[in-house]
Amino acid sequence: MTDTPPHTVLADGAAYAEAVQLAVDANAAYYGAGESALDDDAYDRLFRGIQAYEAAHPEEVLPHSPTGKVAGGAVTGDVPHTVPMLSLDNVFSAEQLAKWVTGLERRLGRPVAAFSVEPKLDGLAVSARYHAGRLTRLVTRGDGVAGEDVSHGIGTITGLPRRLSRPVTVEIRGEVLMTAEQFDAACAKRRAHDGTTFANPRSAAAGTLRAKDRPYVCELTFFGYGALPLPPDDDSELAARLRELPHSEIMELVAELGVATTAATPVAAVVATSVERIQERVGEVAAARATLPFGIDGIVIKADSAADQAAAGFGTRAPRWAIAYKLPATEKITTLVGVEWSVGRTGVIAPRAVLEPVELDGSTVTYATLHNPADIARRGLMLGDHVMVHKAGDVIPRVEAPVVHLRTGQETEIVFPESCPHCQGEIDRSQERWRCVRGRGCRAVASILYAAGRDQLDIETLAENRIVQLLDAGLIADFADLFTLTRDQILGLDRMGETSTDKLLAALDQARARPLSRVFCALGVRGTGRSMSRRIARHFGTMDAILAADSEAVQEVEGMGPEKATLLVAELAELRPLIAKLAAAGVNMTEPGHDAGAEPGPPGDAPGLPLTGKTVVVTGAMTGELASLSRNQMNELIERAGGRSSSSVSARTSLLVAGEKAGAKRAKAESLGVEVITPDDFATLVAGHLTPAI
Ligand code: IVH
Repeated sequence: MTDTPPHTVLADGAAYAEAVQLAVDANAAYYGAGESALDDDAYDRLFRGIQAYEAAHPEEVLPHSPTGKVAGGAVTGDVPHTVPMLSLDNVFSAEQLAKWVTGLERRLGRPVAAFSVEPKLDGLAVSARYHAGRLTRLVTRGDGVAGEDVSHGIGTITGLPRRLSRPVTVEIRGEVLMTAEQFDAACAKRRAHDGTTFANPRSAAAGTLRAKDRPYVCELTFFGYGALPLPPDDDSELAARLRELPHSEIMELVAELGVATTAATPVAAVVATSVERIQERVGEVAAARATLPFGIDGIVIKADSAADQAAAGFGTRAPRWAIAYKLPATEKITTLVGVEWSVGRTGVIAPRAVLEPVELDGSTVTYATLHNPADIARRGLMLGDHVMVHKAGDVIPRVEAPVVHLRTGQETEIVFPESCPHCQGEIDRSQERWRCVRGRGCRAVASILYAAGRDQLDIETLAENRIVQLLDAGLIADFADLFTLTRDQILGLDRMGETSTDKLLAALDQARARPLSRVFCALGVRGTGRSMSRRIARHFGTMDAILAADSEAVQEVEGMGPEKATLLVAELAELRPLIAKLAAAGVNMTEPGHDAGAEPGPPGDAPGLPLTGKTVVVTGAMTGELASLSRNQMNELIERAGGRSSSSVSARTSLLVAGEKAGAKRAKAESLGVEVITPDDFATLVAGHLTPAI
């Protein structure tokens, strides 16, 4: 995973004091109103900077510094905890985790037999006191020594029953959070009440738990992660078991009592007996994160046995027998610098946020979805706002909410389009998702022009003005309609004589017979340009086989990732009527050379073809017989002759076709000892394949 993340470097005492104040303020906001002034990542960096400065200047440590304090010293409460509710120390990489395990084992003087590896739930710690099986008191973590009484929440928290399955006295500790579904419901309730929403599930859970007299009730969820004897010196049989059992068995007991644990979730606790297995589980939990119905911000690793825990003991802030492996932040605050409006294939007008670039979960995020204009209005977003952006895994980044208290007064209103940004036509605002009144027709000129282009159906003589004319006359609505135009219909158009009509009809006949790779490319599916379309066509052989493929089957095509594959399947579902129209108009739906009975699969090396097993790169201007071929047509030719086309020279390149003015690629091929030939020699080599089969 990641290396040690960087921390804020504090140059002198003044910078240190300022950093301490910033952290104290951020903590007060985080644990108070539930509105964060800094995102978690920025806070962690600041906190580590303060720690580093204090380690180097121990005599300068300020009394109100957040280090060494639970919740950074931000909160106090009036209900004393039976046993302090501590924090966890953090690690950020496999290396740091291994070091922590070694350090713990050194301290114990023996190997740790087993660890519990469980999700670090992203909510708030709560202690639930049960007396004779009845839930009597709920207390927040507060400063770790005393917390706030939130017993008014009893009965509104899923997973935390009013009664246990047995009449026992016990303290259960765990995390209160909002699942995605509960968060949506809570936002809807708040929106109906005062027109605002919550910033994110964590702050929604914090606000909800502490709110006493809200006119609406929002549901919360609890997952237990520990149980203690109540009172701590209790001498019941249950108390004795809680002191002796390994943590994993205590959690089984908690579940038996009727309290929710994460056991039934995809990130259930597992017992690991080696660092390798812990690491493997960390990977599994990290991979599951994006699809979980609740937020996690890391993985907690705990020595499982009571004896190991007792021997390791506690530091001032955290136990020595447990550690949190923090996962990269999925939320960060950045600036909304603009809003772009685009028109989709079906005429939907979608806003997208342009952001000050921000690193989030392993990639740089510059754009994020904004759903629709109503959503922008609901969130009260303004240009120049600091916004909380969320991105996890392959999910499309989204803007969650403006950080209102960071406003400077310089923010400006977001301007909504008055007319369709693509065709300037009217906008249908009758639904939350705005649409161009022309619907699919809005993008028709662009998509027909693309389909007719040289590398797709190559319909010579079909210029943009002609397409507009055909659309305006109502003769076509999409490019499939071109193939059913009659001679009379074309002749009836302005400035259209017999000769041009016959030329267009002949061009359409040729286009009808193009290989599947070009017909597919003409559909304009996002992420499938010329070479990907060729790979798809060669893999599946027929349009029917492509349409029958699910996302998994599509991923077998070389270079096709899960995200692209899902998008492709979804777009093809939308394009089915268009494809059916093309097929009915006699447009070819197979790839030449495809064996009709064959299963889909990577095209095997066709034996006996001149380029079988060869990877070929083309550079420079083609001459002689090849002079008129576009780069796309050259690549098609290479593939017809059994080879693979590529655009860059590497040690795996078998042949470079170097035309006039070949430059860097030629030099690279020569330095790698790759064979270089002229266009004329290449034409001779592939002589039998110069013209397409159909
Ligand atoms: S164990 C003394 N287990 O993380 C042991 N804590 O940063 C401390 N948390 O205050 C708690 N998931 O709110 C533990 N599986 C888990 C947890 C977990 C989330 C929270 C908890 C704690 C904070 C420490």
